[in-house]
Amino acid sequence: MLNERIEKALNEQINAEMWSAYLYLSMAAYCHKTGQPGMAKWFEVQFKEEQDHAKILFNYIVQRNGVVSLKPIDAVPTEWKSTLDVFESTLAHEQKVTSLINNLFALTTQENDYATQSMLKWFVDEQVEEEENAQNIIDNLKMIKDNGYGIYMLDKELGARTYTEAAPLAISTL
Ligand code: FEO
Repeated sequence: MLNERIEKALNEQINAEMWSAYLYLSMAAYCHKTGQPGMAKWFEVQFKEEQDHAKILFNYIVQRNGVVSLKPIDAVPTEWKSTLDVFESTLAHEQKVTSLINNLFALTTQENDYATQSMLKWFVDEQVEEEENAQNIIDNLKMIKDNGYGIYMLDKELGARTYTEAAPLAISTL
């Protein structure tokens, strides 16, 4: 049986993860439009990963016999000033998601819900990786500045990213 406050917060986090998926799909569209197909591919993988994050929470609510409540997904931006701006917005967004996960984690302590806290540990670790990935790309872009060859090579490198199903889903029977 899921605690009511936890159930509400998990449903809100599903919505935040789906908004993230939508945001990254929009960023993929922007990168396609600016002629950077490798970066678009990177964001398309990010899009799939965010859907995985939502599904992990969905599965957990189902497992605990809770109620999944899917709310509308707000519109996302469609324009950015530059490639650097896209990745800086990615980092800022991931920092925001980290604070949402931290708040959720803190709530599980308040409510003595250690099963949910244990499930959320995967998200705590994932956020470290999410912020690090965005920061590394920002560092590369700042080094390259407007060097066309550098951008071309970075685009090729990011285009090699492949999607792997999130570990909690790979072992789930749902
Ligand atoms: Fe679901 Fe990018 O954190």
